[in-house]
Amino acid sequence: MQKLSGKTALITGGSRGIGAAIARRLSAEGASVAVTYVSGEAQAQTVVDGIVLAGGRAMAIHADNRDDAALKAAVERTVAELGGLDILVNNAGIFPTGSIEEVTLEELDRTIAINLRAPVVAAMAAVGHMPEGGRIITIGSNLAVRVPWPGISLYAMSKAGLVGLTKGLARDLGPRGINVNIVHPGSTDTDMNPADGELADPQRSLMAIPRYNEADDVAGLVTWLAGPEGRSVTGAEFTIDGGANI
Ligand SMILES: NC(=O)c1ccc[n+]([C@@H]2O[C@H](COP(=O)([O-])OP(=O)(O)OC[C@H]3O[C@@H](n4cnc5c(N)ncnc54)[C@H](OP(=O)(O)O)[C@@H]3O)[C@@H](O)[C@H]2O)c1
Repeated sequence: MQKLSGKTALITGGSRGIGAAIARRLSAEGASVAVTYVSGEAQAQTVVDGIVLAGGRAMAIHADNRDDAALKAAVERTVAELGGLDILVNNAGIFPTGSIEEVTLEELDRTIAINLRAPVVAAMAAVGHMPEGGRIITIGSNLAVRVPWPGISLYAMSKAGLVGLTKGLARDLGPRGINVNIVHPGSTDTDMNPADGELADPQRSLMAIPRYNEADDVAGLVTWLAGPEGRSVTGAEFTIDGGANI
């Protein structure tokens, strides 16, 4: 039986990687899904086509996380064209690198805008439409919890900020029956962090199980949180990183 029949989801950054896997997985459980993209129009359309071919309902929306109006419009289009909004997945993100001597103020602002500010803007736009039983699920990072290398302070800062946002929103929205949680992936095989990249072996060396996640591993956890079995879970952090942080 499909666990998300009749539900509608919006996933930011759903053209590839973890966001695309989440879209496919939520759809496989019966949800109608909208995915946003910036440059990956063709890839977003491929995700949508695959879902429709499998019998699901999906749409792609151009919306840069840096553009408040575009994010708000993405929420409005999802509601208008798919019939509501039950699940918001804040997934889109960038991975800036460089030590504090190297990073620029422009990179600082861009990181905050895409990784941290946009989830707040999306939540502001979404909550007015969300019924009881709604879900906000944000993709953080195990680097929000521990920082094993130099050169990732902007990224770690942005992801750590999302933990506070998650807990605050869980308190704000709990009385309305809306659950808010954060999933912290570790090394996950995507364009952002390929499992055969030159930084992959150092990452594997930190893990108890030295194997990259597939994007679908993360999508499975998100889908569980979105479903009925997640109804009592809120304000929680879930790390899925092969034990890199233990
Ligand atoms: N891969 C990992 O090891 C890992 C580990 C921990 C956490 N994460 C987190 O997981 C999330 C997804 O990462 P991923 O590995 O799937 O990355 P990815 O393969 O690089 O995909 C990034 C997605 O975000 C979208 N995106 C990028 N900038 C955007 C913007 N300004 N506005 C809207 N969308 C934007 C991209 O859209 P376009 O295709 O249009 O560019 C794409 O759909 C991120 O939040 C990341 O920080 C990843």
